[in-house]
Amino acid sequence: MSKNFYITTPIYYPSGNLHIGHTYCTVAVDAVKRFKTLQGYNVLFTTGTDEHGQKIQEKAEEVGKKPLEYTDAIVADTKKLWETMDIHYDSFVRSTNPQHEKNVQELFQKLYDKGEIYKGEYEGYYCTPCESFWAESQLDEGHLCPDCGRETHLQHEETYFFRLSKYRDKLLQYYEDHPEFIQPAYRKSEMINSFLKDGLDDLSVTRSSFDWGVPVPFDKKHVIYVWIDALSCYLTGCGYGTDEEKFNSYWPADVHFVGKEIMRFHTIIWPAMLMALDMPLPKQVFGHGWILFDNDKMSKSKGNVIYPEPMIDLYGVDALKYFLLREFSFGHDGSFNVTSFMKRLNSDLANDLGNLVSRTVSMIEKYDDGMIPEPHGETELDQELKALATKTWDGVEKEMETYQFSTALQVIWNLIRRCNKYVDENEPWVLAKGGEEELKRLDTVLYNLAEALRIVSILLSFFMNNTAISIAEQISASTTFVADDAKKWGLLESGNHIGEKTIIFPRLDIEKETERLWAANSALIESRQKASESEGEGEKDVELKPEITIDDFDKLDIRVATVDSVEDHPNADRLYVLNISMGKEKRVICSGIKEYYTKEELEGRQVLVIANLKPTKLRGVLSEGMLLAAEDADHKLSLATTMEELKSGAIIS
Ligand code: MSP
Repeated sequence: MSKNFYITTPIYYPSGNLHIGHTYCTVAVDAVKRFKTLQGYNVLFTTGTDEHGQKIQEKAEEVGKKPLEYTDAIVADTKKLWETMDIHYDSFVRSTNPQHEKNVQELFQKLYDKGEIYKGEYEGYYCTPCESFWAESQLDEGHLCPDCGRETHLQHEETYFFRLSKYRDKLLQYYEDHPEFIQPAYRKSEMINSFLKDGLDDLSVTRSSFDWGVPVPFDKKHVIYVWIDALSCYLTGCGYGTDEEKFNSYWPADVHFVGKEIMRFHTIIWPAMLMALDMPLPKQVFGHGWILFDNDKMSKSKGNVIYPEPMIDLYGVDALKYFLLREFSFGHDGSFNVTSFMKRLNSDLANDLGNLVSRTVSMIEKYDDGMIPEPHGETELDQELKALATKTWDGVEKEMETYQFSTALQVIWNLIRRCNKYVDENEPWVLAKGGEEELKRLDTVLYNLAEALRIVSILLSFFMNNTAISIAEQISASTTFVADDAKKWGLLESGNHIGEKTIIFPRLDIEKETERLWAANSALIESRQKASESEGEGEKDVELKPEITIDDFDKLDIRVATVDSVEDHPNADRLYVLNISMGKEKRVICSGIKEYYTKEELEGRQVLVIANLKPTKLRGVLSEGMLLAAEDADHKLSLATTMEELKSGAIIS
């Protein structure tokens, strides 16, 4: 009987226009699904969209739409992208799906009935862009969000709490007993040191200041916290509430793949909630790294973003998938670089793989009238090739067990490169000019190459399915890929007529193509910007703050300052520590602009600073002032400066 395997991607925010960083995880899950299917598992792959919450409600309002109307369009785009990328998910859970909402209510009610949820009063600081609450004890005096450095606002509201604090020791014990639960292993220490070591607070799990969410079943003034709602999508995705048999056969999930920044929700809140519900925990949560852009997080608002569509249009979906899984080590951060993309295309795909396919097929066409020849005997070289080819599956399987896609691909490329070397060692073009013995040897060599390519096509099928099919068709092998066939030699039938010769990856002029890709990406960014501007035409007017007097304004000391140097904040991913000078006065200011500017863009620039703001510690670093910046409705941010360069320290009045 075949076994079941359940794997999930995160449930994406419908923020529109997913960039290649977003697609990374889904591409990886898709490869695992195809691989596990070949291994004989019944795989279930769930993805979806996380559509509730204040942020979405506000965004929809900004463009004059109802939240669901707003998310409908984005969800359609997301599904279209997955289709273009040939992503074979089995279940797509929208958190706005009525069955899912019913499930969330049922789970919430169960927690309440078990005494795991209680009513209380929340006084805390809320960061709307991050959708997170902070207790006063977690913030420094300025009450800026420790994650993004933006203003939080004090919320004082009736709320329901989940008894998260009670699960601290149980979680620590669970981690200890199940070392495989958090992967890669170093992320476990991050969770313990950053969140569990000093104890856990109970978690506010309802909101009553907005209504775009799943209503609390027993108190309709409240909606359920988005993370409770989103995490529960993993249960809905495998049949919770609709198909008990399916649910019981797939839950607990084998693995959740998630980005490193959302590990805490998946390894603390989620398991605690499941423990409280007496439900089994997912077997593993794997936290992958980020794909950075110029060593910085990709961000639409900053324009440092690369979208999958131009890469797919120009080079095909398999080139993108190969690059994502080969270039970056799953688990670690990596920087996107167009030149590395082009180089991988040229050296790995065009030179190694493309060349092997094209010369094998061409030679069979030329020397054997397009028929797969018959092999005659075996030399040492042949045995060596055969041994490597038939054991490559095992090497790949070993890497796939720990989701090391890049090394799994390297194992496959060892075989591909060995095949190319085998061509050079045997010199078929010389054999073709010889007598009967040489011609027999030529047939053996060409058969072996085609047979090795048959194995390569199976090995590539879970990473680059279209390419695998094309290779198999060209050498007249089966396009129904079977794992066991990759461990056997001699399955390709002699006498078969080869398929039509196709160039799978042409060689590229790197300089020209780099320009072409950037141009296509910029054109897409521009057209998306225009579309979002026209969508925002119905925007509501800006709400102004209450009037102040000139005396109020006079209290502010705003200065022109020069940024001398910029460092990463030691304890906060989104903050910079800027050393600035105002005339002779030197200051240190922490600012949440890392997402928007590189250090090079800031160093030497003039900025405006509120110089008499009371100094406050931000995640342990004293910040002596605040930079002025403007942020528009699309969360595009720009630092304020003067039209002309002035002497540093000049007063703004
Ligand atoms: N809605 C939550 C997830 C809820 S899961 C129950 C969320 N959504 S998200 O759309 O913001 O992010 C989805 C995934 O994309 C996250 O795992 C995040 O880490 C990933 N990525 C976003 N940008 C990324 C890169 N630049 N590189 C790699 N992954 C990145 O978080």
